[in-house]
Amino acid sequence: MKTNESNGKKTTFIDLFAGIGGFHFALSKQGAECVYVSEWDNECRKVYEDNFKSTSPDIFKLEPSSSGKASFDQPLFAGDITKVDPKTIPNHDVLCGGFPCQPFSISGKQRGFADTRGTLFFNVLEITKAKQPKVIFLENVKHLKYHDGGRTLKVILQELNNIGYKTSWKILNAKDFGTAQNRERIIIIANKEKEFDFSKLETKESKLIKDILDKNGNFEILDPKDYTIIPKELWKKQESGLIFCGYRNKSIRKAGVRPNTEHLSRVHKQPNRIYYIEGTHPTLPSQETTGRFWIYDGKIVRKLTVDECYKLQGFPKSFKKSKNTTSCYKQIGNSVAIPMIEAVYKQIKEQYNL
Ligand SMILES: C[S@@+](CC[C@H](N)C(=O)[O-])C[C@H]1O[C@@H](n2cnc3c(N)ncnc32)[C@H](O)[C@@H]1O
Repeated sequence: MKTNESNGKKTTFIDLFAGIGGFHFALSKQGAECVYVSEWDNECRKVYEDNFKSTSPDIFKLEPSSSGKASFDQPLFAGDITKVDPKTIPNHDVLCGGFPCQPFSISGKQRGFADTRGTLFFNVLEITKAKQPKVIFLENVKHLKYHDGGRTLKVILQELNNIGYKTSWKILNAKDFGTAQNRERIIIIANKEKEFDFSKLETKESKLIKDILDKNGNFEILDPKDYTIIPKELWKKQESGLIFCGYRNKSIRKAGVRPNTEHLSRVHKQPNRIYYIEGTHPTLPSQETTGRFWIYDGKIVRKLTVDECYKLQGFPKSFKKSKNTTSCYKQIGNSVAIPMIEAVYKQIKEQYNL
């Protein structure tokens, strides 16, 4: 197990807004030890426990309650982070978290400073103040950059600066880290001594949808009468790596759409678009609970299976998923692309000597 070179101890991290543990996978694979988790959704908690109890038994120290259900007041496997006293959280080297993005209070703005109280970022900040982790490692949707006219991101960076951290951020795309998914996310890194150099990240050529497909499975296949494949000469690989090749025979957008533009992806609502398997897959969404986008392999049009979605996000075959298919889709759409988080953490270790 890799140890922290400066003090001979293992590098420790906490997993806030942990979901099903994407950060946990990426960091523990590189020798770091998880010492605290917060996640309030019972279905995610169950998956988290099923996957990490054997490797991180200390987080799950308390016995299940007499009702047989997992006890949710375990101090190291917390539920609602807003109910936690930051002082009770163990010391750690790296604070990881993909907190939901919320606008900050207008009243703070009027008083000339940012008021983050009542938001989940405020809790991240309070934990940072109390525990002074060496590195803050945050992941969020790309939209955070534009949220509230750019003010939300500005306030986050400013607040971290105010408590002595230097901040760095960049929009990264999972497809640049060897996955078959076009998934853009903002990564924010903070450290007291120096900024993070994103240019040192090791990128890897994107995979294609065809590389992660299973040969057999319970495929959801679309009837040929319900879709149109556009002529091959009109298929164009977009900058994102997606190849739009057809659409479901549903009504197209009306506003501002010119006649004979059916071959353009943007005139079709996202769930009606069909993508060719020689390209990348669109971002797995968390809201889409009935399955994923349609893909075309030259013969049939179908959706990715649950297993293929987990592969697309870089989860190992051995990962124990929820028994509930709807939860599975929601959880994997909410999760991080593991290879991208791994690549960032590799550089965090390198650049901050962890
Ligand atoms: C975008 S997901 C993060 C997923 C995670 N990074 C992963 O790899 O699976 C945000 C998570 O925060 C959790 N969450 C939201 N509010 C919370 C709170 N107050 N306390 C604890 N968890 C919370 C949600 O249940 C959700 O699972």
